[in-house]
Amino acid sequence: MPDHESTRRTVVIGNWKMHKTSAEGVALAAELVAGLEPGRAAVAVAPPFTALAPVADALRGSSVSLAAQDVFHEREGAFTGAVSAPMLAAAGCSIVLVGHSERRHVFGDRDEDVRRKALAVLDAGMRPVVCVGETLEQRDAGDAENVVRSQVEAVVARLSEAQLARLTVAYEPVWAIGTGRTATPEIAEAMHRVIRASLAALAGSGAAERTPILYGGSVKGDNAGAILAGANVDGLLVGGASLRADSFLTICHAAG
Ligand code: 13P
Repeated sequence: MPDHESTRRTVVIGNWKMHKTSAEGVALAAELVAGLEPGRAAVAVAPPFTALAPVADALRGSSVSLAAQDVFHEREGAFTGAVSAPMLAAAGCSIVLVGHSERRHVFGDRDEDVRRKALAVLDAGMRPVVCVGETLEQRDAGDAENVVRSQVEAVVARLSEAQLARLTVAYEPVWAIGTGRTATPEIAEAMHRVIRASLAALAGSGAAERTPILYGGSVKGDNAGAILAGANVDGLLVGGASLRADSFLTICHAAG
């Protein structure tokens, strides 16, 4: 098996969720650009839609990439309130989160929606980060692995090799999001192994080895290093701790 250090670059994405006006986002982006030390980790931020274009300007010329938090799968049309993948690409995004648990649980995104969104992101030349994760109820019932496997399968089953090359998966146990209750490094690594095995079964071991699998859920500066130590943990998707430059930079620097 290839050494993951050499095949998968560490990725850290700050998901700002519904925080930051354009001006606040630009200020935070400028602080990140000024404070980020060169390292191995690829760093991205995901502002709300309204801040994408100004934050893209603030990041121009830096190593920090721009991500969107969601997308609608159609290219254009009468879909009031929706934003398409080509619009996000034109705003400067190279990465789009799809299937975040808040999209699934607050807005009702189903596996089929997540699959369509991932395909739209790929069609527009960007990289989808497919978020998966079980609820506490599902974990307590012993269903966590099956839930996560079926969420992965719903998106990955029919992707081509070229599409798989741009895929990232993020494991975010719902019970660890915004709760301060981080999965232990052992729980995270165990589920990342399940996801990697599931990718191998669906797409072959080469694609599975190349796909970055990120962890998200109450990641902070003081637990990032321990979580990243897992052999199958390739990066972090950070919510609350990405809203301030100091806490997010601490995590970026812990990642390389
Ligand atoms: P928190 O880091 O605030 O728990 O959020 C995690 C998350 O949902 C990132 O997408």
